[in-house]
Amino acid sequence: MLAVILSGGSGTRLWPLSREAYPKQFLPVVSDDSLLAETIDRGLALDETARVLAITNEDHRFVVAAQLQAQAKGRTAGIILEPVGRNTAPAIALAALAAAEENPEELLLVMPSDHVLRDLAAFRAAVAVGAAAANSGKLVTFGIVPNAPHTGYGYIKAGAELGGCNEVAAFVEKPDEATAQRYLDEGDYFWNSGMFLFRADRYLEELQAHNPAMLDACRAAWGEKQADLDFVRVGRKAFEDCPDDSIDYAVMEKTRDAVVVPLDAGWSDVGSWSALWEIQPQDEHGNVCRGDVITEDVTGSYIHSEGRLIAALGISDHVIVETDDVVLVADRSRVQEVKKLVAKVKERG
Ligand code: GDD
Ligand code: MG
Repeated sequence: MLAVILSGGSGTRLWPLSREAYPKQFLPVVSDDSLLAETIDRGLALDETARVLAITNEDHRFVVAAQLQAQAKGRTAGIILEPVGRNTAPAIALAALAAAEENPEELLLVMPSDHVLRDLAAFRAAVAVGAAAANSGKLVTFGIVPNAPHTGYGYIKAGAELGGCNEVAAFVEKPDEATAQRYLDEGDYFWNSGMFLFRADRYLEELQAHNPAMLDACRAAWGEKQADLDFVRVGRKAFEDCPDDSIDYAVMEKTRDAVVVPLDAGWSDVGSWSALWEIQPQDEHGNVCRGDVITEDVTGSYIHSEGRLIAALGISDHVIVETDDVVLVADRSRVQEVKKLVAKVKERG
């Protein structure tokens, strides 16, 4: 099995800790290891023969290489560098083309590099169930029981039972809130975790069926690849010409051959500061404090210092994040709007 780690995104929702130059996958968000390092460990823990293939961009190649070297210790299948970002469907196509050179039926476990998963045993069990289906040609998704009409996720409608998993009756990427609420009310929907498991050849076949222009561009770019130590650079012009789309829209919404395996493993995509507050152990006042923090009569807050002492008094349900050059103070219920601040900071130049 090849753990394909996607590390091309530049999340701004954990601003000011996460920046374009240093997005959240490189940060130690919930433990002393970065989210990327934890993802590499998870991939390698699947079985002794699992290897890791990372896909990222030029800007982040040295951070990714250093973390792979530290964590994967020889069990790496290299690092593919995209000359430009074309979203996840082409990135995964490059991984599939790379894997297929050695073994077209190699199983690819696609993993975002910026998620938290608490329960490794439950994750491994779900992947084992999925592997049987994937070996038989299915495209496997991992479904999270939803608890809110979140519009940032894909929604998977579970169909008939099929060998320990369920057929995917429908896959809807990022519905609007009213639709998401309807799915919640109907009850047989999962959130898409963003991880996928399939054979390399099956992904390429599906791309051929649903988006041949994308596959052609990826094949052309892969055909012009150049190796440089652990890095593989694909052809710039061909990849620039590739259509931009995510696997969710380009393949998962269209395929008729997907299954869903339920995943109850403490998953979070740590999409906001409030998500971080939710998933971490809170003290007796409902606070999560990291770094040098003292509080008096503070409740329900996430307080994070990278250096200076934060002293907080008499507040509730706040987020405070201190870095070298920025201090963020926000109402915990409004942290999805941090991007408005990021835009204002950009305007100032
Ligand atoms: N290499 C590479 N190249 N990686 C990329 C690129 C790219 O062009 N674009 C995004 N990524 C990486 C991100 O760094 C992240 O690890 C992962 O691919 C998923 O991309 P996101 O941009 O974070 O996707 P999303 O969160 O909007 O939606 C996906 O994840 C949700 C769960 O968190 C979808 O799969 C949803 O259906 C799903 O619910
Ligand atoms: Mg994401």
